[in-house]
Amino acid sequence: MFNTRELQDKIVKLKQEKDVCILAHAYQSQDILEVADYVGDSYGLSELAKNAPQKTLLMCGVRFMAETAKILSPQKTVILSHPQAGCPMAEQLSVEELKQLKQNYPDHSVVAYINTTAELKAECDVCVTSASALEIAKKLPAEKILFIPDPNLGNWVKGQVEGKEFRFIEGGCPIHTRITAEDVKRERNLHPRALLLVHPECRPEVTAAADYAGSTTGIMKYVKNSDADEFIIGTENSIVQHLQFEYPEKKFYALSKACICEDMKLTTLADVYNCLLGKGGEEIQLSDALQKGARKAIDAMLTYAK
Ligand code: 13P
Ligand code: SF4
Repeated sequence: MFNTRELQDKIVKLKQEKDVCILAHAYQSQDILEVADYVGDSYGLSELAKNAPQKTLLMCGVRFMAETAKILSPQKTVILSHPQAGCPMAEQLSVEELKQLKQNYPDHSVVAYINTTAELKAECDVCVTSASALEIAKKLPAEKILFIPDPNLGNWVKGQVEGKEFRFIEGGCPIHTRITAEDVKRERNLHPRALLLVHPECRPEVTAAADYAGSTTGIMKYVKNSDADEFIIGTENSIVQHLQFEYPEKKFYALSKACICEDMKLTTLADVYNCLLGKGGEEIQLSDALQKGARKAIDAMLTYAK
């Protein structure tokens, strides 16, 4: 039996011996973040996946993040820390449905949130993350945009881009949409001095009521640069915990107790350890054709967002 610190020490030793880079999305638990080589949002993870010098990438997050890492670094072994960790939003649209939409709207550029399967990415013009979506939508030469699959992120972008037409599908993050306007009212009343920071995957009425909306890394940076000492956080609740570790003298409140992504929470520190021993996780395998198709849209994102 090991305690947390002993298991973490073993992981740090093993990852060095085996030349493994541990990438962790910021929604992972604190014990995992502490052993990771990089912690951040989807955009930062994709940049790191492209540039990390190690031969193996261990992705602590959800499947589309591991697929993106494999597409950007096809020569590397990419392991998803927990085979069942998926993003429900990534599968809200089938490839057949997207092909039909493209036929219906042939004059639209297809912009895909990175929370999509590799098969969907291969059918799109450009990927975006929550950190890069606004900049890319502004820079895209297209005047008509079909934005899949998150209408909440899409509407948040649309509200800040002039002179372009947007089309959305029904869907969205089942976790962030648990947050309601009622939650905003209650928490604002409870903590009148606190600033409200939310992820743009939230419902429009929640995002509209916020002092700041941005990606997970954006929220962390906002706190870093702010003089305020109380914050209500409207995104996956592990961010509340991480911020509390980073700034123990400040106060952080969850906007909703229900904003917990069960998929992001599947991976445990023991999974990370077992992956390094070669006894767990799943090695990501994608056909060459699929990697090539999806890579165009991801490369377009990295080029636009430079
Ligand atoms: P980020 O782009 O902020 O990493 O968000 C990814 C995600 O899955 C949010 O729910
Ligand atoms: Fe997907 Fe939502 Fe979980 Fe993010 S929080 S991984 S968008 S289900």
